[in-house]
Amino acid sequence: MSQIHFNLVMTSSPNSHSQSVWAHPDDRHGLNLLSPDYWAGFGRLLERGMFDGVFFADTMSISDSYAWETLASGSAPRPDPWTILPFIAAATTHLGLAATLSTVGTPPYLAVRRIGALDNLTGGRVAWNVVTSYLESDFQALGLEQPSHDVRYDQADEFMEICYRLWDAFPRDALIRDKASGDYVDVAKLALVEYSGTYHSCRTYPAMACSEQGRPLIFQAGASGRGMRFAATHADACFALQPRSAMSDYIANLRAAAKQAGRPDPRAFFGVQPFIGGTEAEAQQRITELEERVPIGTALNRLGGLLGREFTEDDLDHPIEISETQASQGWMSAIAHVSEGKAPSLREMALHFAISPMNPRIVGTPEQVANTLEEWWRDTGCYGFTIVPEVLPASIEAFADEVVPLLQKRGIMRTEYAGTTYRENLLQQ
Ligand SMILES: Cc1cc2nc3c(=O)[nH]c(=O)nc-3n(C[C@H](O)[C@H](O)[C@H](O)COP(=O)(O)O)c2cc1C
Repeated sequence: MSQIHFNLVMTSSPNSHSQSVWAHPDDRHGLNLLSPDYWAGFGRLLERGMFDGVFFADTMSISDSYAWETLASGSAPRPDPWTILPFIAAATTHLGLAATLSTVGTPPYLAVRRIGALDNLTGGRVAWNVVTSYLESDFQALGLEQPSHDVRYDQADEFMEICYRLWDAFPRDALIRDKASGDYVDVAKLALVEYSGTYHSCRTYPAMACSEQGRPLIFQAGASGRGMRFAATHADACFALQPRSAMSDYIANLRAAAKQAGRPDPRAFFGVQPFIGGTEAEAQQRITELEERVPIGTALNRLGGLLGREFTEDDLDHPIEISETQASQGWMSAIAHVSEGKAPSLREMALHFAISPMNPRIVGTPEQVANTLEEWWRDTGCYGFTIVPEVLPASIEAFADEVVPLLQKRGIMRTEYAGTTYRENLLQQ
């Protein structure tokens, strides 16, 4: 029987996903963001829960669309997640280690060298979430102009082409390490990479050999037509944010794009945020408690940032009308769905987004959460889910210790890892 897969998605900030959550009495993440012991324990928790891996979403800069109030309530500091992964790696043996690196700001040669070093040091447990930097503030931080949406993807295609050549130019079997002859490397197996493109160039021998898993796994999350073409061309797995009603269409579009690119379908994972309680009412109460902590100004600031609107002048208790973009219409309908068909007020919508930024919620007892995950997995044909945390690490402890065993009993989730590399475990059927 095939297996349902989980990755944990988080950000390296005090709040991870839910605004103001670091100040919740049970939260241990915010105050331990820079504690190596915290990350070691967190990695062991994810292995106990048989997650494929931990995945850090990231942007380089702190967006200047954040109001001071939003920043103050835990949107910063934001350490580079690649510096956190080694601490998780050192405490674990099978967990996949994924982080975001933009095709802006780091040349492809250095990306391959640094990611390749960590991939070798961890025995092939690294994945790279390739992003093209949608935030203008990322470019401003680097002193660069932001190119248009599609040009960023064109640049990224060239970036990836150089990476492929660098990976191919230093195969693992070139490492002969023969003390008798004194040859560490079989240079006949190395190749000089020479690439001169419109946006990127590179001339060098690669500094790192491939790891036990060959190349690092590639993740992507582009959702536009051009973004999906990029994902279908390069990605091993795609992380998607879709309301329940749009999940099956997303899978169909991704499969069509992969067919067009002549590649196997990337494994699709949908972001979901579980709220787990002893009863459904208790689980619902967790949301209420989280929402009560969020200052309405911060919630409006995040909603405005996500939807490209300012809401400072609007009436909080009236439903809002958003019709500018397809994406926001999709999210409006998703939120209308969770509000049982009633149009949500601006206040309700902002607070919903404050806790669950675009991720569908699954609320209930461990049994109810397991049932919904299994149903969505079977109905949509997705490969698995990216689990979005609320209070950390408590929400993931509940998931690992109460939901995962139910799925294991049903025979749809692993009880041990298939191999030691991320590739082996993520692709385990
Ligand atoms: C689930 C998901 C995760 C994402 N994670 C990141 C991220 O960590 N860093 C980032 O810069 N962009 C991230 N993005 C943005 C995408 O990489 C992409 O730049 C953006 O969606 C715009 O491209 P598109 O128009 O093709 O969707 C994410 C998007 C989604 C849907």
